[in-house]
Amino acid sequence: MEFQIIRFSYVSSTQDIAKNVLRENVVILADTQQNGRGRFGRTWHSPPGGLWMSVILRPRIDSHLISLLGGVAIVSALEKFNIKACLKWPNDVLLNGKKLAGLLGEVHKGYVLLGMGINLQNEIPPELKDTAINLPEINREELLPRILEELDNMLSMEKEDILNLWREKNCTLGRKVRVREIEEYDGIARDIDEKGFLIVESEGKIRRVMAGDVEILEKL
Ligand code: BTN
Repeated sequence: MEFQIIRFSYVSSTQDIAKNVLRENVVILADTQQNGRGRFGRTWHSPPGGLWMSVILRPRIDSHLISLLGGVAIVSALEKFNIKACLKWPNDVLLNGKKLAGLLGEVHKGYVLLGMGINLQNEIPPELKDTAINLPEINREELLPRILEELDNMLSMEKEDILNLWREKNCTLGRKVRVREIEEYDGIARDIDEKGFLIVESEGKIRRVMAGDVEILEKL
């Protein structure tokens, strides 16, 4: 499958442009975003040098699984550059325990807009330096085709194979985590279920996390 890339130097958010374009397999790529956003409406810093894009899809699989799939595509693409990143549920890519990339899956009029933000040659704001990391040795023009190649491969896979690839490349399962949903609790992340939700064992009970924030309490 061919992706069509539409390039912008400056946008509010590639997700918003994607909502207006709404054509399958189109990629909205921007040099900078003024209002880049993450999950729960958080700000996503998007200065020049990073890879900020939204991929417009009409996947066969559950839209919940798309950000897991996007994370696997990023980690697999980085492996081609001998970089070993890993996946933190639900939508972070970590390198050396810090956030390298984030994914945002939004559904709009039957399309899934898969937003990907990867810190490459961009600056990391000083207040985020303890928790975020970039990869200055990689430029976005070399990484982008690799990611699209991986996405293309994965979009034709069966759900179970996608979940297994996520399991292979994750650094969440088997670890002690703190979950922040309506309430906050600690437990051990055990698995992801067929919908991509996280299964956590906490005080002898099995709990299913659908949309919360998860902090890994061990050093990675
Ligand atoms: C997160 O970690 O909470 C998700 C971050 C997603 C950021 C990307 S950058 C490209 C796309 N456009 C946006 O406004 N957000 C996503």
